[in-house]
Amino acid sequence: MDKAERYANIIPMHELDTKEKRLQPFPIYNWLRQATPVRYDESRNCWDVFLYEDVHRILKDPATFSSVRMLSVMETLLTTDPPRHTQLRALVNKAFTPKVVNDLAPHILSITEELLDAVRKSGRMDAVHDLAVPLPVIVIAELLGVPPKDRYLFKEWSDILVKGPDVNTDEAFLNVMAEKTQAMKELNQYFAAIAAERRQAPKEDLITLLLEAEIDGVKLNEEEVLGFCILLLAAGNETTTNLITNALRRLTEDTGLQQQLREQPELVSSFIEEVLRYYPPIQAIGRVVTQDVEVHGTAIKAGEQVVSWVASANRDEAKFQEPDQFIIDRKPNAHLSFGFGTHFCLGAPLARLEGQIVIKHLLEHLDSIEFISGLELDYIQSPFVYGVKQFPVSFKEL
Ligand code: HEM
Repeated sequence: MDKAERYANIIPMHELDTKEKRLQPFPIYNWLRQATPVRYDESRNCWDVFLYEDVHRILKDPATFSSVRMLSVMETLLTTDPPRHTQLRALVNKAFTPKVVNDLAPHILSITEELLDAVRKSGRMDAVHDLAVPLPVIVIAELLGVPPKDRYLFKEWSDILVKGPDVNTDEAFLNVMAEKTQAMKELNQYFAAIAAERRQAPKEDLITLLLEAEIDGVKLNEEEVLGFCILLLAAGNETTTNLITNALRRLTEDTGLQQQLREQPELVSSFIEEVLRYYPPIQAIGRVVTQDVEVHGTAIKAGEQVVSWVASANRDEAKFQEPDQFIIDRKPNAHLSFGFGTHFCLGAPLARLEGQIVIKHLLEHLDSIEFISGLELDYIQSPFVYGVKQFPVSFKEL
């Protein structure tokens, strides 16, 4: 495959060349934002944009900055532009309104209780494996209408979908692409079987809704239905897992936050917003330029790829006061961690709710949550997903 055909967002930027930098990339983003607010990266064949103002403008303008990717593993909501995007989005919007999502709260709490009950007596858990992975997977599996017991399969597949090569070589790139192709094949087969069942016997779930939905009297074709299912599974999992783990990371890096939130539980929602800003689960968002354009005085040509660094924009001093400080009740907090505009995250209300419920519940039942040192943290091997593979913590029961 020609390098120019590569989807730029899949290769990590060369500045992030050590484990320490991958675990804490923010000083590098700060430096790049100041030194080269818009720059072309030869090794990834793309433009990188670091300022809040520019990232915001790019996300707001789908006509100039398109989501139709050159190299996408699936065509769906995330990779279409208006007007098709508007039609597809309308189909699923009603399944994710704040009202529908809020009604899930008691159920999300009971899943959280069950997961915590399984580990609380032992006084320790791996926050990733025991809590942050299963919770969102169970919730999204139930919404879609697939058996939650298959969640280990989902986890494996979604890990591969967000994966990127760790080194910028043709071999590493092709290996990852082959893994993705295989995972997509398996996912397609998995959902095709469930879709066939639902056609025979409809249920009250998202898969049935997608099968029955019509746009101007035309149903979605099989490929579109399966694409939707895969997108919801992948987008809803990895990201929320990392929001929960990143929140726990903050609570153990600064243990004073635990006491403060226990005393003022009303701050949990702004705490979650600040975690999203400070440690964004998605660091960057890719677009392709449709017509020659200038960004921050730099000319970008039609057809070129632009990577908007949300994680940098969220720390831009022109937008946020003391951006490197974690301010639990920061207001306003216009972070871009769920994107902005047309493609603004469909699952944002759900992810926020899951994050808030988990953190509230943990702080109501556990005391002195601490990172168990000894194990070295390892980052998730993905150029745009930010999180750690394991996060062992100890705690006392309250
Ligand atoms: C879109 C982040 C949770 C479903 C997006 C985008 C971001 C994002 C940055 C915009 C991408 C773009 O502009 O190209 C996150 C984060 C989450 C999260 C940080 C958790 C903390 C979820 C959940 C679901 C979900 C739980 C589903 C249940 C989607 C979908 C889109 C999307 C379907 C595409 C929307 C569109 O193209 O119109 N998400 N997401 N996300 N997200 Fe999320």
